[in-house]
Amino acid sequence: MANRVPSGPEGVPFLGSSLQYADDPLGFMERVAREYGDVARIDVYGTEVYQVTDPAAIRRVLVTNAANYRKPSLGGDEGLGGLLGDGLLTSDGDHWQRQRKAMQPSFYGEKLDEYGEIIVRDTTELADSFSDGEHTDIHAEMSELTLRIVVESLLGARIDGMERAIREALMEVGERFQPGPQGFVPEEIPTPRNVRYRRAVDRLDRILREIRRQHEYTGDEDDLLGVLLDRRDDGALSDESVRNEMMTMLLAGHDTTALTLTYAWYLLSKHPEVAERFHDELDSVVEGTPTVADLADLDYLDNIVTETMRLYPPAYVVYRQAAAADELAGFHVPADTIVSTPQWVVHHDERFFSDSWEFRPERWTDEFRRDLPPFAYFPFGGGPRKCIGDGFAMREAKLVLATLGTRFEFDLVSTAPLDLVPLVTLHPANPVEVTVRAR
Ligand code: HEM
Repeated sequence: MANRVPSGPEGVPFLGSSLQYADDPLGFMERVAREYGDVARIDVYGTEVYQVTDPAAIRRVLVTNAANYRKPSLGGDEGLGGLLGDGLLTSDGDHWQRQRKAMQPSFYGEKLDEYGEIIVRDTTELADSFSDGEHTDIHAEMSELTLRIVVESLLGARIDGMERAIREALMEVGERFQPGPQGFVPEEIPTPRNVRYRRAVDRLDRILREIRRQHEYTGDEDDLLGVLLDRRDDGALSDESVRNEMMTMLLAGHDTTALTLTYAWYLLSKHPEVAERFHDELDSVVEGTPTVADLADLDYLDNIVTETMRLYPPAYVVYRQAAAADELAGFHVPADTIVSTPQWVVHHDERFFSDSWEFRPERWTDEFRRDLPPFAYFPFGGGPRKCIGDGFAMREAKLVLATLGTRFEFDLVSTAPLDLVPLVTLHPANPVEVTVRAR
C-alpha cells in the first residue's frame, strides 16, 4: 500500500485552516486543489480532512470501495442526524438498507409519470398567480413550489397557505447547521439560535402531524407515506421513524431542486442567447401545457439543467469516513480519515470543462457526455448512497422550467453578481429579485 502522505496548507496551531475556510469556504477548497493537488490534507474546525478531487479516486470512495466509506456523523446528535434521526439521508447499516429498498419504488417507473402531472398542475397554479411586471423573489417562489410538489406527490397532502411557514421554519432550522468555527452549540444551551431552532422544529413537527392526518383522507395507499405507514403497521417501522423519513423528504426533497431552478432562472436572465434558444425549443415542441412526453424532445432544456448544476451544484460537497486504511490516487488514507469529495471544485476543473466558469449548455453534446470521465460530474453523488430523488428532481426541474418558460421570462432586478453561501447546500446570499414578464 502507498505510504505517500498528502500535503496541504500548514494552518496555525489549534485552528489549522479554520479561519481561511470560514472566510471563503468555496475559494479555500479551490485553492487547496490548485496548490496541493488531487488529494490534499486540510485541518478545519479541529478535524483533519482529505480533500479528493480526482474523479477516479472519487469513484473509488463513492462506488467501488463504498463499503469502506461510511457517512460520517459530522456534529453527531447536534448535527443533521439530530434532526433527521434514522431517516434515509442520515441513517446507515441494516436499517438504511431496508428503508432504501422499501422506498425505492416510490421514486421510479410509473410513479414518476404520476408526479409529472402534479408538477405541471402546481406550476400552472403558480403561473396563473403571476402578473406581467410584478416583482418577486424567485428563490422564495421556487422553494414554496418545490415544497408543495414534494408534499403532494410523496406525502399525499396539500399544504395550501402553509408553504411560507414551512419555508421559514426550514430556514431557521438550516441556520443551526451553518458550518462555522463556533461548531454546534449543544441544543440544551438556550442561545438565540438554538431557541429559534427548537421552535422551528416544533412547528415543523406540528405540520408533519397535520400532513399525516390529511393523508388518511386524501393520500394514496401506495404513495411514499402510504408505504411507510404500511411498514409501521407491519411492525417494521416506529412512528418516530415515519416522522424522520417525512422530515427528510421535506428537507432533502425540496431545497436542492429549488436551488437548481433559482440558478437556472438567474443564468437564463444573464444569457439572453441561451434564453432565446430555450424559448425557441419550447415553442417548437410544447403545445399548450408541457407534458412528461414532451421532455424526450426537449434536449436543450436538459442541457440547461445539467449545466446549471455543474456551475452551481446545490450539493457542493459529499463527506465520507474511511473504516479501514485505503489508498486513493497513490496516497495512503489512514483508517478513520474524513474524506471530502467537493463537486464545487471538480465541476469547475479545466481538465474536464474548458472555460469552466462560463455557462455553456451547448457543451453537453452526446459525444461530450460520452467522453467525460465518470465522477467529473456528479451532482447527485453516486454509488449505493446516490440521491434517491435524482430522477424525480430532473423531471421536476425540467417540467417547472418548461411550464413557466412557455408563458414567462424573469428579468433580474439587480445586475450584481450572484453571491453564494455554502450552508448545508449552496445558497444565494441574498434574495434573487426578478421582474415577471409575460411572453
Ligand atoms: C437537484 C436536486 C437534488 C440534488 C442536487 C441532490 C443531491 C443529493 C446528493 C449529492 C446526495 C448524496 C449525499 C451523500 O452521498 O452523502 C443525495 C441524497 C439523497 N437525496 Fe437528493 N438531491 C436532489 C433532489 C432530491 C429530491 C427531489 C429528493 C426527494 C424527493 C431527494 C432525496 C434524497 C435522499 C433521501 C437522499 C439520501 C439517499 C440515501 O442515502 O440513500 N433528493 N441527494
